[in-house]
Order: sequence, then C-alpha cells, then structure tokens
Amino acid sequence: MKARKIKDRIYWMGSVDWDRRLFDALIPLPDGTSYNAYLIEGSKKTVLLDSTDPQMADELLGQLEGVSKLDYVVSHHAEQDHSGTIPQVLKKYPDAKLISTPKAKGMLIDLLRIPEESFITVKDGETLSLGDKTLKFIHAPWVHWPETMVTYLEEDKILFSCDFFGSHIATTDLFVTDEGRVYEAAKRYFAEIMMPFRNVIKKNLEKLESYDIEMIAPGHGQIFPRPAFIIDAYRDWILGPPRNTVVLPYVSMHESTKRMVDYFVSALVEKGVRVEQFNLAVTDIGKLAMALVDAATLVVGTPTVLAGPHPYAAYSAFLANALRPKTKFISIIGSYGWGGKTVETLAGMIPNLKVEVIAPVLCKGVPSEKDLKALDDLAAAISQKHKEHNFT
Ligand code: FEO
Repeated sequence: MKARKIKDRIYWMGSVDWDRRLFDALIPLPDGTSYNAYLIEGSKKTVLLDSTDPQMADELLGQLEGVSKLDYVVSHHAEQDHSGTIPQVLKKYPDAKLISTPKAKGMLIDLLRIPEESFITVKDGETLSLGDKTLKFIHAPWVHWPETMVTYLEEDKILFSCDFFGSHIATTDLFVTDEGRVYEAAKRYFAEIMMPFRNVIKKNLEKLESYDIEMIAPGHGQIFPRPAFIIDAYRDWILGPPRNTVVLPYVSMHESTKRMVDYFVSALVEKGVRVEQFNLAVTDIGKLAMALVDAATLVVGTPTVLAGPHPYAAYSAFLANALRPKTKFISIIGSYGWGGKTVETLAGMIPNLKVEVIAPVLCKGVPSEKDLKALDDLAAAISQKHKEHNFT
C-alpha cells in the first residue's frame, strides 16, 4: 500500500498484515493486524515515527522512495513489530538520528545491534522542533514494555501512541469507522498485553489528561478521530469495578465435568449471575483473556488427570495468573476418578491473584444429587459475594 495522508504533511506508512494469525507465537489475531509508522514533514526537519515488522520491510522502504531526506527516526517501543525495520531505514538515511528513551536505547542495541552513535535519547517531556511542527516526547512505561514512550505533535494535537490504545485489525480504513468492532479488538489487545500493567497504565492515562488530544494514531489498527472513545474504554477496563460475571474456562474428558459445568451455569443464571463459558479444548484463548478484564469471579472446571488438573485447565490458571485481572473470587469444579491433587496444584499456580477462594466442588465420577446441591450452594455463595460488593 502507498503512504496515506492524515493531515497536512503527516502521513501513515507501514503495512497492513491481513494474513497474520498469531503474535509472539501466542496471541491469536483473528482479524490480522497493521504495523503503523508515521511520517511528519516539518518546515525544517522530517521525522519517521516507528517502522514496520521486518517481514514487511520492503513495503515501508518503498513508501520512503520519494522521501529524499530523513532527519530523525523515533522509536517508541523496541519490540520488533515496530522497530524491526529501523536498521534498514537508518541504512537508507545514514545521517538520520534515532530518538528513543534511554531504556529503549539499550534494548534496541541488544535486539537490533543498532550502533550507539545513531542515538539521541530524550527525557520525559522533552521537545523537538521540526520547524513549524513540534514533537513532545512523553515517557509512558509499561505499555507494555518498560521502555515505552508516546509522542504528542503539539500544533496538530495528535498523539502517536504505538502499542498504547492499539488494536489488531487489518483494514483499508485509515480512521475508525466502526467503534463497536474496534472496541472488541482493542479490549482483546488490552487483555492480552496491557492488563498485567494496569496500575502503571493508570498513571500514564493521568499523565495524558493535561493534553488537548484531537486524534490518536496508534501503532496497530486504525486512527482514532474521537480519542475519548478509546481513552474512556481504557479507563473503564482499568478503573471500573468488576462485573457480576463468572468466567468459566473448563475441559472435560468423559462428560462428568461437562455435566457439572452445565448444571452450574444454569444455577448461576438462576441466581442472576452472568456467565462466560469457554471449552478450553476449542476456545480462542484471546476471548478468555477478554472475559477476564471485567469478571468478578473465575471458576476453573477440570477433570483430574495424571493426578492433577487437566493441562488445558492448568494453562488457563497460568494465563490468568500472568494477566493479573481484577478478579475478586475464584473456585474450582470438576470430577475425579480415584484421587489426585487438582485443587492444590491449581491453587499453587495463581500467586499473583489477590482473590478470595470459595470452596471448590469436586465429585467422584458422575455428579450425584449431593454434588449438584454443592454446585447450587457454590452458585449461591458467588451470587451473594457479588451482591455484597454491588457488582452489576
Ligand atoms: Fe506492537 Fe509490543 O509491539
């Protein structure tokens, strides 16, 4: 795709990756993604913000064909989907300086072997004049690595945010046209990589409050012509109370755990509790991560196999522990054949979660009437906890 004009002498560059289906060999990308770079031509200096994934380097280099001089490249984030083509850009423009935070400088040297003499490091709040346009660099750590920053273009009131506020969507629409679709993708993105750092991100959001932002141009997905939409969504995901929802990732081998899940879901619904149920044998793990953003309670459903939880259930507990959602309560349900340490093993896998454990319900073989009554009691206990906290 050719470069696309955003405003006077401000252009989108980079790549739309329609076919990518997995990021970091971990994160599902059902809608592909884009790697956005931006070119800003001031009256005196020209700057490129970020680059593109190295697999799509030729596209960016082609877009730069008509750009005779580049004075600066800004690297907001050292991860290679944004920085990976910077070495080739610097090779094309050997006089260009690479601007980054001091922390990013070390990481870019480690990851891409960029020579130290190419760098200019910037302090938080430092400005750079391009002539009639001024860049202000705002350190914004942990969105989602420790070295990250964003850039505010003062005259045009555009925030270039890299991963912050991004979403994995491949589209030819430069600007957000369907906020519902972007909300879903941005929430998935937040859940998968930002959620563990939400306490720091909260400070970054506060830091941006003093800026008059008319447009947010992220490193993935579409540009936000109405920044309040995504800023408000982030505020809700970070600061909003958990919802009256149980997230229920489960796996079943011979239907006993599945029978418990079905009964339990019905019992929760009767008590007025919303449920998001995920069969771990087939689910999109990104959907599970999204559900964890808001849910007050996590209940893992697992059979006992090899003397412990099913490996898929262990994976879901490991994931929840790593993502550190604002979940308040946790429990386990499942069936076993003759014994094992399912509860102890799962409980030991979630040290990061500050949760109250509600007594698990494990049954031997297929669930009996007594087991179903225990599931009713568990549903009632969860409903009561949610009511006490006024979760809606
Ligand atoms: Fe889009 Fe953290 O890279």
